[in-house]
Amino acid sequence: MTIVTERDPNQVIIFDTTLRDGEQSPGASMNLEEKLRIAKVLEDMGVDVIEAGFPIASEGDFEAVSEIAKTIKNSTIAGLARATRGDIERAGAAVKHAERGRIHTFIATSPLHMQYKLQMEPEQVLERITESVGMARNLIDDVEWSAEDGSRSEHEFLCRCVEAAIKAGATTINIPDTVGYAVPEEYAALIKMLIDRVPNSDQAVFSVHCHNDLGLAVANSLAAVVAGARQVECTINGLGERAGNCSMEEVVMALKTRQDAMPFTTNIDATHITRASRMVSSVTGFPVQPNKAIVGANAFAHESGIHQDGMLKNAQTYEIMTPESVGLTKSKIVLGKHSGRNAFKTKLEEMGYKLGDNALNEAFKRFKDLADLKKDVFDEDLVALVDDDTRVNDRIKLTSLEIQCGTVHRPPKAAMELEIDGKTQSCEGTGDGPVDAAFNCIKTLFPHGARLQLYQVHAVTHGTDAQAEVTVRLDDNGERTAQGAAADTDTMVASVKAYVNALNKLLTKREKKAPEAMSA
Ligand code: KIV
Ligand code: ZN
Repeated sequence: MTIVTERDPNQVIIFDTTLRDGEQSPGASMNLEEKLRIAKVLEDMGVDVIEAGFPIASEGDFEAVSEIAKTIKNSTIAGLARATRGDIERAGAAVKHAERGRIHTFIATSPLHMQYKLQMEPEQVLERITESVGMARNLIDDVEWSAEDGSRSEHEFLCRCVEAAIKAGATTINIPDTVGYAVPEEYAALIKMLIDRVPNSDQAVFSVHCHNDLGLAVANSLAAVVAGARQVECTINGLGERAGNCSMEEVVMALKTRQDAMPFTTNIDATHITRASRMVSSVTGFPVQPNKAIVGANAFAHESGIHQDGMLKNAQTYEIMTPESVGLTKSKIVLGKHSGRNAFKTKLEEMGYKLGDNALNEAFKRFKDLADLKKDVFDEDLVALVDDDTRVNDRIKLTSLEIQCGTVHRPPKAAMELEIDGKTQSCEGTGDGPVDAAFNCIKTLFPHGARLQLYQVHAVTHGTDAQAEVTVRLDDNGERTAQGAAADTDTMVASVKAYVNALNKLLTKREKKAPEAMSA
């Protein structure tokens, strides 16, 4: 039985696809534990729909969607599927245990995609829409249909596709700007045209899914909401394919801050935004640019004297929203070396981390080690420490590292021990610098052929005892990339851990199917 509840006509459904489209971003891959942790934050934030993955893509994707479906109670869990029986049944099986599950099925509708990618005639695509949506509706009540490359589709044909999808049972109609080509006025007009012209449009929620190739994803999504769309698909930090997707924090804060221009609401509790942003950045190893709206390190920083003076007199002179409204509090010294296990546990819970007994004991041990090395332990240090501690399923782990470097004329040397598939192995190596020497050791102990594409270091907090956060990206013969990150007070330890983290992610990705095989 379908229970129909009255929706507030001005409420915008927030559909987060960080775990699906976000994870498709080159280099970003997440393991099951990381996906569950992000899903939990999204649920805490009040996200209406979490797209948890593409179940047919790999066993790992299927497992992640189905675990998230079993764990998350307050958000709808969606699984993506192409317009084929195999995909749809796999997505249905993955979301079957969800309190509220959704199958999201898609097919391309633009002349370019139909002719070259699908090699299908428009009439065949239309038939496939009816079949695939019908198949999905036989498995579940909540079905979303997407017109891939919708913004470059012919209007007449798109209207027929949308009408067919609704007739076959789709309750949400998504019109993606797949290649980030649209501009706001045109995209808004497209949504309005569909709502006005499709005869059964009142039986579905219209949704938008914008990519950011021209930097217009947020502007396009907001324009579409004004034109009648009531679901926005977005990701934390704007993570996603190529230039990324519409950024959730920007859309949500734009709607909250400019109620006068856009009188729409969302279910999002924005005070979770900063935590979600930091978690996604640390899990994927994608740093947030300092001047990124809402979540960049400088988003609420005031450098110029004139601005600082204005801020002291009245914060509204230069601040259109408060840092607290997005969950940003001043960096505080939270704990020290005398803090006990209980204080540590309570602090982590306040920050949204609920660890099991074993994980907590491990994290507490690492916290004590850190507090011995570092006078002040900040919130950011704890985030880095807990994130580092939860990589329990990794095949490769660093167990010991010694580095020799200096100004005298002898080559930098690294001596390293790695645990590989449970066996400890050691190596000594040299290189063009200490980092090179250490990375050479990893290659000797675990030959893998991947090329280092990015090596980046930044400080988690301030001061010479700050933890260094290192990001490493590895490229596997141009076939796939993986990005890893790690933090430690010792930059060399952080570097090796980040490399090992990227390598572990690459190994997980190698188990997945090639992305080409996944196109619709
Ligand atoms: O960008 C896109 O078209 C997509 C669809 C699969 C929804 O991600
Ligand atoms: Zn997309």
